[in-house]
Amino acid sequence: MYTRPFAYSPIRLFAYSPIRLFAYSPIRLFAYSHILKGVLVPKKQFVSDLTTGDRVDSFFVLTEKKLLDYKSKPGQFLSLILSDRTGSVEGKVWERAAEMSAELNEGDLLYIVGRLETYRQSPQLKIETLETADASQVELGDFTVATNRDIGELKSIVRQCLDGFTSPHLKNLTASLFSDEGFFEQFSAAPAAKALHHAYLGGLLEHIAEVIELCEPMLRLYPQIDRDLLMTGVLLHDIGKIRELSWGLHTEYTDEGRLLGHISIGYEMIYEKIRQINGFPESLKNRVLHMILSHHGVYEFGSPRRPKTIEAQALHLVENLDAQLKGFVQTIEGVRDPAQRWTDFNRRFDRYLYTGYGDEWECPDEDEDEGGSEDGTLFEMQSR
Ligand SMILES: [Fe+2]
Ligand SMILES: [Fe+2]
Repeated sequence: MYTRPFAYSPIRLFAYSPIRLFAYSPIRLFAYSHILKGVLVPKKQFVSDLTTGDRVDSFFVLTEKKLLDYKSKPGQFLSLILSDRTGSVEGKVWERAAEMSAELNEGDLLYIVGRLETYRQSPQLKIETLETADASQVELGDFTVATNRDIGELKSIVRQCLDGFTSPHLKNLTASLFSDEGFFEQFSAAPAAKALHHAYLGGLLEHIAEVIELCEPMLRLYPQIDRDLLMTGVLLHDIGKIRELSWGLHTEYTDEGRLLGHISIGYEMIYEKIRQINGFPESLKNRVLHMILSHHGVYEFGSPRRPKTIEAQALHLVENLDAQLKGFVQTIEGVRDPAQRWTDFNRRFDRYLYTGYGDEWECPDEDEDEGGSEDGTLFEMQSR
């Protein structure tokens, strides 16, 4: 196989271009001196702090790359989405775009120098120099978003759920997966999605722990639901995501994930475990696997079956409730400008969402007469 010498790669050439001799810049030396000492290079700028006109000189993760044709002349340019834990910004490379594109991969850590400009009212980073960097040079937490709940606490919710089984078959099945430390670690680290809901490290564990908690009042109201069966579905319905997604600096679908999807992958994982358990009843196997295959509720959302048992319907409703509400919360909390009362148009929900920022109204003071008082307490919606 022919491998192009690094010295001639477009990125390297770009680095030596007259625009800027990055290799000889003090930043490069600074970075090297820290690598030699085994010290991480601090990230100096975050996306959320950038304003138009700012000189940009920092690390970002490449989360999306598109090579596009110029509309008014021959040739191509490169559109890059550059991210850190605070958000994303679009960057453009105008020179040697095709060569550069061939050298870059989504998930790469990049050291970018440029200037933030505004184009059609959106921020756009004009990239002057760009160089790939080693992820071991930086603090990964500067680039990734993780659950803000305590992982140990979330794990103990799952463990308590596992301890609560009375059916020996279902206890056996769930324990056969979660007693595998490697599996539990992956399950606890994985995001629940690339973008839709709980799309951050630890998001899958958070989602499952929340669904477990949401099930409690439902089980009290509906004694017809078999608790062990429902909880088996809750714990296992999304386990295929640990193979559907890859995560780290950047979350992406694996080839297996794109080709099979987490429902099929999860079905296979659970089927295989059931097959290894002696005497697992056939009817119970069908009920468990049915919950996995139907948990998205409808064919349009990838479920090959629609829920046909009370536990499958309960699982679908409650896990969808958690996913939908979390999607709303994340969309609204993604708006950082306290003056922005509406989100941008959200394609997932097919609507603008109301942030309510700045809303306030008077509440009657509890100590006052029923009619309330003119100087009642002010309650601000934005204090969240
Ligand atoms: Fe799912
Ligand atoms: Fe789910």
